[in-house]
Amino acid sequence: MQAVVTSGQWGSIHGTEVQQFEKEFAAYQDAAHGIAVVNGTVALKLALTAAGVGVGDEVIVPGYTFVATATAALEIGAVPVFADIDPYTYTLDAEHAAACITPRTRAIVPVHLGGRPADMDAIANLAAQHDLVIIEDAAQAWGAAWQGTRVGALGDIGGFSFQASKNITAGEGGMMLCNDPAIGALSRSLSDCGRQPDGLWYAHYVLGGNYRLSEFQGAILRVQLRRYPQHLQQRQANAAHLERGLAEIEGITTPCPDARITANAYHIFFVQYRAEAFGGVSKAQFIKALQAEGFQGVHGGYSLPAYRQPVMQAANFGLSTPPLFHGVHPEPPDYSAVALPVTDRACSDEAVWIRQNMLLGERQDMDDIAEAILKIQQYSDEVQE
Ligand SMILES: Cc1ncc(COP(=O)(O)O)c(C=O)c1O
Repeated sequence: MQAVVTSGQWGSIHGTEVQQFEKEFAAYQDAAHGIAVVNGTVALKLALTAAGVGVGDEVIVPGYTFVATATAALEIGAVPVFADIDPYTYTLDAEHAAACITPRTRAIVPVHLGGRPADMDAIANLAAQHDLVIIEDAAQAWGAAWQGTRVGALGDIGGFSFQASKNITAGEGGMMLCNDPAIGALSRSLSDCGRQPDGLWYAHYVLGGNYRLSEFQGAILRVQLRRYPQHLQQRQANAAHLERGLAEIEGITTPCPDARITANAYHIFFVQYRAEAFGGVSKAQFIKALQAEGFQGVHGGYSLPAYRQPVMQAANFGLSTPPLFHGVHPEPPDYSAVALPVTDRACSDEAVWIRQNMLLGERQDMDDIAEAILKIQQYSDEVQE
């Protein structure tokens, strides 16, 4: 970091930190090409464009995700179509995704939510059958692997986030990963004002923007990546211990194991909560009680499905002008009519998040979480709103 300050090369154009980080992160994730950008939202937006998604194309996204999975598509004029999640894994339900396909569907965006890879076999089959591109939302999935290969470039292209809450962070930051050199070259150009590698500095060939990371961010990210394998291992070991500790507690379920998931990045450790087993204590009350026990990293997660966000319900998505797909897509979905039962239930009643930083504690800390949950169950009649 100090070296960047004194080098005089603060931008990535002439520096080496971002360039090195792109190479190191791509290699770590088993991808051929890495293109760093300012954040995960931009990574997804540019990834969609680089993969050929355009105005009026439908893009299938899960309902249970951060809003950017859908708004990245909207920003380029594509139409997000929401599919439900699997009740046992909280990732895209491929069967429901199949039911959402129309002649206008161009892409599918599996989200490796919480660091757990989505069912990439089912998604690859679906994509092959319907000629769809796959854009992985791997914003939370550094180090996650599906059948021995790390995620991000399992499909056509993927996007990662290095925002402040993430397991690897520079405050903000993002990365696109892919294996196809043409998609990689277009992604690079889109992220760098439409430049081409052999072009003049002031020659611009495609409609891109300046989405480059700074060298300061590159230097921080390189250091974070170096210590990441050890952190990942620690989170995984603690998650396995916590899972064992929670297994006996009635009303608490953790997502189904899947042998094809060879690494979970554990950005979020999901707990499925059933209030009936806790004397009717609501999810909100349960979280409050756990926080009162000292576990500030416990959270209710997305309080609204992405399709119920005010922006998705507002006329013109809250803007004064119609969306880009206006007049191109003949019958865009009416998001006020979308109701996906598993997603709705996860948001309102069921999903409890134990955030990644809690998994960097000691084994004893995991035992303390399980113990606190048991205590809440035992004294459920005393838990106050
Ligand atoms: C699932 C998912 N997609 C996309 C994003 C967007 O990333 P960023 O916040 O870096 O723009 C995030 C980050 O919060 C995310 O969690």
